[in-house]
Amino acid sequence: MQTLAIIGGTGLTELPELNDKKVHQNINTDLGKPSGDIIEGELHGQRLLFLPRHGELQAVAPHRINYRANMLALQQLGAENIIAVNAVGGIHCDAIAGHMSVPHQIVDYTWGREHTFFDGLFKPLDHIEFSHPYDEILRQKLIGILSKQRLNHGYSDTGVYAATQGPRLESIAEIKRLERDGCDLVGMTGMPEAALARELNIPYASLCLVVNPAAGKSDALITIEDIRQVLTQGMQEIKEIIVAFTKA
Ligand code: HPA
Repeated sequence: MQTLAIIGGTGLTELPELNDKKVHQNINTDLGKPSGDIIEGELHGQRLLFLPRHGELQAVAPHRINYRANMLALQQLGAENIIAVNAVGGIHCDAIAGHMSVPHQIVDYTWGREHTFFDGLFKPLDHIEFSHPYDEILRQKLIGILSKQRLNHGYSDTGVYAATQGPRLESIAEIKRLERDGCDLVGMTGMPEAALARELNIPYASLCLVVNPAAGKSDALITIEDIRQVLTQGMQEIKEIIVAFTKA
């Protein structure tokens, strides 16, 4: 049985669809504790692991997440593939609230995060290949499912994800800069997660839900209330996509 890990982002703290649930509590790794308990379960003959990236209470800020411990914990429990769920702001004109995207590229604007296992301390210095940050097989499988799903706000099969530091949202000038850099989506947790998965050789892809137009991309200011509304409906769609993914 293959083991698929899901890293749940903002708005996705549990997967009630899982059968035979078992909770891995107080996990420890050589680099500390992951964001929260990892739920193990089964769905359509596939073993699933679920880790809420910001913790069960959604209280861990993006720059304080122990991404390395999260990845080591998933590896320890046997994760063979990882799908990361990310709530993002939309920069590209197609990326309206509720839109889904399976990004193919990433630009890292984060700083000060523990971002590698190959730091010469935990593991000897090494330089991983990262031309294509996301696993193409997982991406194509996700895209195949999105193409068959009835989605309220459509999807994109490519996208450049800008990983920003947060937790604040961006200024309009910052979003214009990201746009000039070729970015389509903006979120706070895509890095170093994607690179750490590659360092551990675990295939990794991201499923993004646009929850707001990025700063300056609509006439209105971004409100948490608007984001919450999109999250509620969008995460329901994401759960359906995950269920379909385990069937495919
Ligand atoms: N910017 C950065 N991260 C985000 C946003 C945004 O507008 N929306 C959701 N996560």
